[in-house]
Amino acid sequence: MLELADILEARERVRETSRRTPLEYSHTYSTMTGADIRLKLENFQRTGAFKIRGATNRIATLSEEQKAAGVVTASAGNHAQGVALAATRAGVDSKIVMPEYAPISKVKATESYGADVVLAGRDYDAAAEHAHEIEREEGRTYVHAFDDEYVMAGQGTIGLEILDDCPDVETVVVPIGGGGLISGIATAIKEQRPDTRVIGVQAEGASSAADSLEADERVSIEEVDTIADGIATRSIGEQTFPYIRKYVDEVITVSDPETAVALVYLLERSKTLVEGAGAVPLAAVLFEKFEYEADEVIVPALCGGNIDLNMLTNVIIRGLVETGRYLKIRTVLKDRPGALEDLLEIVTAHRANIYAIHHDRTSREVEMSDTEVEIELEMRGPDHVDAFLSDLRKAGYTVDVLA
Ligand SMILES: Cc1ncc(COP(=O)(O)O)c(C=O)c1O
Repeated sequence: MLELADILEARERVRETSRRTPLEYSHTYSTMTGADIRLKLENFQRTGAFKIRGATNRIATLSEEQKAAGVVTASAGNHAQGVALAATRAGVDSKIVMPEYAPISKVKATESYGADVVLAGRDYDAAAEHAHEIEREEGRTYVHAFDDEYVMAGQGTIGLEILDDCPDVETVVVPIGGGGLISGIATAIKEQRPDTRVIGVQAEGASSAADSLEADERVSIEEVDTIADGIATRSIGEQTFPYIRKYVDEVITVSDPETAVALVYLLERSKTLVEGAGAVPLAAVLFEKFEYEADEVIVPALCGGNIDLNMLTNVIIRGLVETGRYLKIRTVLKDRPGALEDLLEIVTAHRANIYAIHHDRTSREVEMSDTEVEIELEMRGPDHVDAFLSDLRKAGYTVDVLA
């Protein structure tokens, strides 16, 4: 059974390899929520996520013989990079199996930390099967991404840092994928400060921990669907579930649009880049997914910053849509000279800035005497959007809001 002592030992083992990440008060989110928000900025960790802590602790506890045989794991994301760097730092050979579709940026990053990357299988499960074959054939040790007490203990060192840097913390908010991160953090916190709340956050489209607690047994989801790929896990671990049951006060879920809004706020207001899984704890606070008091000291743990740039572009646009800063509309005009100008007069009157406009006289969607127009606009917020749409409709335009 994982105990505080294991996490204290892990702290000594990970000290050299991983970074002690900052914890910072946020005036912005404190003002927005009325609580006292301090961000644990684990997105500044080496390799861009907390995974190096658990991997380092796991590898440090291998026997000399096991170290000589090397390690293997399967991962499409942060765990791959964490194991690669942890192994290299310990002078241990690592083989990481990544699914064939894995983004090239992640493959390159993992290789750059010194791992031998093997591309195999169409998805994570197939890659994991291949990694277990390598484990058997080459006698390597499999480093599990979450279902391992040494890994959990390594991740738990984040909990120690939170208590050190914020002794008055009342609530810690932690994302859950397989549950290794929250098991470690919750053990570190609850064994010292049982009254501090630990809240787990999942994506609505990957809610296995929330579902498991409700069913009172581990349940697995057929298909996960979320932009928070770091926590897009079909089921929580066999070993992590007991810790979640024992120590986690509440597990709640957030939607992808809510995650996108938190991510965009973090970029714009805090100048900090997180991935989807890194944004869910702040989303849970901003969208009041659990109850908290005025001035309550809350620490959302932002645990990763590795986001694919294409994904980031989509998430930013989605975040701007949700906050009324981007609007895409479709309307129909009479196909006559000046019709577009009339429409643009309203756009100008509202000082909406045009990103793109598409004027299609050949659309099959409209009458032959009509023209279809799609406009993408930069807006100033929900009130601006409402006033603009209302004036368009008053002027007789039929408007479909596309985004
Ligand atoms: C950025 C980020 N946050 C949170 C998690 C969740 O960790 P766990 O699977 O241990 O619950 C992960 C897992 O990969 C992650 O990459």
